[in-house]
Amino acid sequence: MNYRVTLIKGDGIGPEVTEATQSVLAAAGAPIEWEEALGGIEAVEAFGEPMPEQTLSTIRRNRLGLKGPLATPKGRGYRSANVTLRKKLDLYVGYRPVRTMPGIQTPYENVDLVVLRENTEDLYAGIEHKVDDDTVLTLKVSTRAAGERISRWSFENMRYTGRRKIHCCQKASVVPMADGAFLDAYLSVADEYPYIESSQLPVDTLAFELAQDPTRFDVLLLQNLYGDILSDLAAGLVGGLGVVPGANIGDQIAVFEAVHGTAPDIAGKGIANPLAVLQSALLMLDYVGERSISDHIRRAVHDVLSAGTHLTGDLGGSANTAGFTDAIIDAL
Ligand code: NAI
Repeated sequence: MNYRVTLIKGDGIGPEVTEATQSVLAAAGAPIEWEEALGGIEAVEAFGEPMPEQTLSTIRRNRLGLKGPLATPKGRGYRSANVTLRKKLDLYVGYRPVRTMPGIQTPYENVDLVVLRENTEDLYAGIEHKVDDDTVLTLKVSTRAAGERISRWSFENMRYTGRRKIHCCQKASVVPMADGAFLDAYLSVADEYPYIESSQLPVDTLAFELAQDPTRFDVLLLQNLYGDILSDLAAGLVGGLGVVPGANIGDQIAVFEAVHGTAPDIAGKGIANPLAVLQSALLMLDYVGERSISDHIRRAVHDVLSAGTHLTGDLGGSANTAGFTDAIIDAL
């Protein structure tokens, strides 16, 4: 069967890294039909907003999306395209697996963890209020329902992925109502899964323990802002934003995306690393059950990284995007 996938190439290096990904998937025989849709700057020019309804409706129809990085024009009152996408499609799980990759020099070996981030609430609800010229209020939204549903998703996912231990990381000692509600929701769901080891940790303790020894963690569950920050920290432990995949997942729809930005400093030069978008596309193949194709591509990526002869500049090599991509296709 063919899968129809909405493709948002995105801004900056987006077209370079998504097109490289399309070539690798095509070479591996992945049965995907791409339906292109606009996001970011091009969407603002065509439709007046960075995440237009036209794009959202193709994702709603296809239930699958792959997205390059998007720029949100600053100072013109637009809400972030990414926040809008997650909120309007109710993609409440931010999913980021973080693994040591062969051939990529980092201070740690054997890192293998997943950061799960509640994607729809917290300070990202966008409720801000100017009290007077010196004072603003920004509301942190935390509902029990949202805490319970991502907790339940997390435990269910662990049952099928062989993961054993989850830490809920928050700051309930200082934000007892909002973070306390999230923690309470997590603890009540944890009771339903006595065979999965569950624990909790203040988010600041998590930050220093991750820096000291990330290998002791398996699954981390966080609210939106903490998850945003700590998932980038975790990516930094295994080689940076250019290599780590991500997904935004809801009950019916999933959008897979690179977690890096548009990299304006290198856009258009043909030297960006496509690995993050490629790995996100592999998560998408896993998600629809095409594991044999995704594992075939993973083996090819593994071989190219291990050989170390065709790495892009961010990984310490001198290959360009096309050279790295062609090496993966040759390895297939
Ligand atoms: P960035 O991730 O674009 O760049 C940070 C550094 O990492 C730069 O030196 C860049 O060259 C490098 N880099 C990023 N991805 C790379 C890749 N695939 N290969 C090689 N090097 C790579 O972050 P920055 O500069 O903070 O943001 C630039 C723009 O991207 C902003 O407009 C921001 O809003 C947007 N952005 C979009 C995201 C998304 O759509 N998911 C996420 C983060 C930022």
